[in-house]
Amino acid sequence: MIIRRFRPADENAVYDVCLRTGADGHDATRLFADPRMLGHAYAGAYLRLQSQFAFVLDDTDTDTDTDSNSHDSSGSEVVGYVLGALDTHEFERRCEREWWPALRSRYPDPGDVPAAERTPDQRIAHLFYHPAAAAQALLDGYPSHLHIDLLPRAQGKGFGRELMELLLTELAAAGSPGVHLGVSETNTGAIAFYRRLGFEHLADAPYTAIMGRTLAG
Ligand SMILES: CC(C)(COP(=O)(O)OP(=O)(O)OC[C@H]1O[C@@H](n2cnc3c(N)ncnc32)[C@H](O)[C@@H]1OP(=O)(O)O)[C@@H](O)C(=O)NCCC(=O)NCCS
Repeated sequence: MIIRRFRPADENAVYDVCLRTGADGHDATRLFADPRMLGHAYAGAYLRLQSQFAFVLDDTDTDTDTDSNSHDSSGSEVVGYVLGALDTHEFERRCEREWWPALRSRYPDPGDVPAAERTPDQRIAHLFYHPAAAAQALLDGYPSHLHIDLLPRAQGKGFGRELMELLLTELAAAGSPGVHLGVSETNTGAIAFYRRLGFEHLADAPYTAIMGRTLAG
């Protein structure tokens, strides 16, 4: 497996990894009627607006003559990614102008459905209309943020650490003093991983722990 920069042709594969790790780190495929909902909310904008901070783990098949249909014609298969936004505040502003409007025109606002009765698809569609905004106090010290997901067969082999170190180096080189992330408070494996990489608990949001790490200048 190799780590490389994201290419536009990887977009569907990144969306797929997002779905297949979207239920507290486990496969969320059966939860969603529309398989692209999670990718729209948690991956697409990074690929379109911040692709210089998007890296993928590619399980390159050097023997492209095999019968495998899980690789594309170049023998490439994305099995993980890390996606970053350098300046969260600016990223949120750009999403408001350049990302959410197209989704709002395709997916109705489920605002009139009581929150407890929304389907998983509707809960994500609600985010398109009411995206989370990071608190200014958090952004003062940790203006960047990230998402990382690896398919099960790529986990536990050091690739998560490698992807994170690559992104953190790039964010630091671009001048960021710190990075934060949100993780489901029940995703204990991911929380242990982030702690191992030097992240500390900073705050709590609904069902979510906010963790952060300063970056060496
Ligand atoms: C969480 C995730 C990104 C970690 O990546 P990974 O490649 O499996 O982790 P690595 O093998 O690079 O491990 C790096 C370090 O974290 C530790 N670690 C990783 N997963 C751990 C776990 N579940 N429990 C305890 N420690 C863990 C490793 O022991 C390792 O320590 P070391 O480098 O000091 O020896 C990956 O497992 C994953 O994508 N999981 C599913 C999706 C997910 O939960 N994403 C996060 C959503 S917020």
